[in-house]
Amino acid sequence: MRQTKLFNNSVAKGAIWVMAVLAILFGAILIQQQTSVAAEIVVYKSPTCGCCNSWIKHLQQNGFTIEAHNSSDMQQVKNDMGIPRKLSSCHTAKVGDYVIEGHVPADVIARLLKEKPKFKGLAVPGMPMGSPGMEGPRKDPYKVIAFDEKGNMGVYAER
Ligand code: CU
Ligand code: CU
Repeated sequence: MRQTKLFNNSVAKGAIWVMAVLAILFGAILIQQQTSVAAEIVVYKSPTCGCCNSWIKHLQQNGFTIEAHNSSDMQQVKNDMGIPRKLSSCHTAKVGDYVIEGHVPADVIARLLKEKPKFKGLAVPGMPMGSPGMEGPRKDPYKVIAFDEKGNMGVYAER
């Protein structure tokens, strides 16, 4: 009788341990998948855009994996991706479910992926001098604008 009980206890304990280890493993796999998906950015740019390549380099230097596509009709790409006209810049990108327009800094994209806010994407309108990929003689202040499907906009970061 006593032996049976002991046996049952150790079986139960063993089962709990196995479940705990499985849960940890499963959690680790999930986290890995999330970070590897989050770290890949698909960039659309015109084949002649130099600052686009500089921005891609900036992202790569900050740990992102880039898949770059050339397009001779960037306006069409922007329309397809739902970029508001007034937020327009040179390149348009996709990371996870978000769209990225223009020279958005890598750390702001990292923050976006961490916070997972409920909007469509981020944009740095125009091409501010001194933004990542637009390095030059001076650094102009600029804003990173968050926007949603309905056209609502707000400031997400200021540089
Ligand atoms: Cu540019
Ligand atoms: Cu660009």
